[in-house]
Amino acid sequence: MTPVDVICVGTSVVDIPLQPVDRTVFDSVSYPVEDVSMRVGGDALNESIVLSKLGSRVGLVSAVGADAAGEFIIQTAREAGVDVTGVSVQQRLTTSLNVGLVAPDGERTFITNRNGSLWKTEESDIDVSGFLGSPGATEETVVSAPRILAFGSIFNNPLLSGDWIARLFAAAKAVGMTICADMVPSRIGAGLDDIAEALGYVDYFFPNEDEVIDLTGARDGAEAAATLLDKGVGTVVLKTGKRGCTLFTAGQEPISIPAFVRDDLDAIDTTGAGDNFAAGFIRALVDNKTPQECAVFANAVAAVSVGGLGATSGVQSKAQVDEFLASRS
Ligand code: ADP
Ligand code: NA
Repeated sequence: MTPVDVICVGTSVVDIPLQPVDRTVFDSVSYPVEDVSMRVGGDALNESIVLSKLGSRVGLVSAVGADAAGEFIIQTAREAGVDVTGVSVQQRLTTSLNVGLVAPDGERTFITNRNGSLWKTEESDIDVSGFLGSPGATEETVVSAPRILAFGSIFNNPLLSGDWIARLFAAAKAVGMTICADMVPSRIGAGLDDIAEALGYVDYFFPNEDEVIDLTGARDGAEAAATLLDKGVGTVVLKTGKRGCTLFTAGQEPISIPAFVRDDLDAIDTTGAGDNFAAGFIRALVDNKTPQECAVFANAVAAVSVGGLGATSGVQSKAQVDEFLASRS
């Protein structure tokens, strides 16, 4: 197997966005829309594809069903240059398909399968050993373990428990990897206590402001970040939407880095902006950039991504992002 720099571990789904769909949808027998087709979605899958387009050697570790949607995920990732040997195909699972109803004003509702792979993926379905080596491997015994494990995202697959995530991160740390993670709101009421141990292994954590305020019960992002640093997170990279992001590291002043405002575009699609942000940050980490430089590059990748439809069509190459950065400096 060719060595990879990064493994993206976590969620892969298929999205079917339908637009525009308004409230009269049930008034007619047939409701034509411009497009009905499968798009890849899910944080780990999006991150892996964008990282590959940015020139990283990347592997995806995820689980799909033995069905057409699962094949579509594997095929799309493979065509983008992602190492898909870590994607497990499970007879038991039905690959999650999210049907998105997008109103003319941009408001969205997702119809999801509560028995789909997102909900039913179990800890034993996710196997990083092909990339990390056998259990008990150490930095000395493993040849070329990937540099970075990117988990996308904490709480996304409800059956992947905080304890299991902590063991995964510990195993990756033992072979010298840097741990990056994003989060989503828990679908089953899990909270900070459930992931406190896992957070202790995280070097770079990419939540958005609302998510950490909810998670910690803090009054604002800064207070929430302080709580997360207390749990042992190395650097909280707080995403603040069109304001950009703020870096929080223990013992240092927070550093805010403004987003690249896209006044040059008529339409903005922020689907997957957070995943593109994470991919950008990680791409710069692979190049040994400072956290501040990584954050600038992350904002740039996210800003390029909002110019394309869906999560993975905006960013095509690192050269494209470098050009965008040059045009803004
Ligand atoms: P999430 O999608 O995970 O909730 P955000 O909404 O904070 O995360 O967006 C992630 C990143 O995308 C931001 O940190 C910023 O860099 C970028 N971004 C979001 N919205 C815009 C926008 N309108 N213009 C430019 N960049 C944006
Ligand atoms: Na997120």
